[in-house]
Amino acid sequence: MKIIKTPQAMQKIADSIHRQGKTIGFVPTMGYLHQGHLDLVKIARRKSDIVVVSIFVNPTQFGPKEDLNKYPRDFNRDEKLLAKEKVDYIFYPTVKSMYPKNYATSIDLPSLTNVLCGKSRPAHFQGVATIVAKLFNIVKPDLAVFGQKDGQQAVIIKQMVQDLNFPIKIIVAPTTREKDGLAMSSRNIYLTPEQREQAVVLYHALQHAKKMIKDGEKNIHKIIALMEELIESIPDAKIDYIQIVDADTLQPIQQISGKILIALAVKFGHCRLIDNMIVKIR
Ligand code: PAF
Repeated sequence: MKIIKTPQAMQKIADSIHRQGKTIGFVPTMGYLHQGHLDLVKIARRKSDIVVVSIFVNPTQFGPKEDLNKYPRDFNRDEKLLAKEKVDYIFYPTVKSMYPKNYATSIDLPSLTNVLCGKSRPAHFQGVATIVAKLFNIVKPDLAVFGQKDGQQAVIIKQMVQDLNFPIKIIVAPTTREKDGLAMSSRNIYLTPEQREQAVVLYHALQHAKKMIKDGEKNIHKIIALMEELIESIPDAKIDYIQIVDADTLQPIQQISGKILIALAVKFGHCRLIDNMIVKIR
């Protein structure tokens, strides 16, 4: 496994891999890896000749009051975990090499970036779309794997790939959950032991909503009210949003039908957790 630190070196390697007729599978990450990331890497490993994982805590997707400096980092541990998964290259650039002084470009998909999490995290998804586009141009993958846990991010990336004609297949992998159902996230370490126990309420609320829909409930307000009631029964939990939207356009829906996304964001103290579920109704 090789560690590549500059965009130029990574591009040269990618070109040489393609010249040999091999495919590149890519998993972009911000490091501090957990089983959820490793599950994405396993998919890339199964489906491609060469696997590249990027580790880059992208400053442009953090707001001024967010946790950029405190974001957990442990490169040595990440390196060991990725070696076990037989990753071929880690792309581990510096901020300066990704955003030099005269850097000026940003990518936006307003109808998708300004809704759900985008409302309380302005500029977050512009930062995500921009860094992922840059990473795609540097790593030149044939396929890239993202997690359903970041459902809005996955929709944005798929749309960007289509709009900007990136020749890349996007795979969205199911959310990896802890035994009790909490979605795995690097941010879970911010939870106190008590909050960690309580945080499973997010999964329960989503499951409850899914069951109501499958049992024929059509009233969106009723479903959301029940989810709110469940989550608000936990004193530490502060709801940012709970929404039921079209799973492809992320726009609010008037009636329950087709492929829908139930999405939520809830704060436990300073720790903001997100989760979602897709439900398909004929
Ligand atoms: O999902 C993440 O970890 C990040 O948003 C990503 C895709 C690596 C871009 O920085």
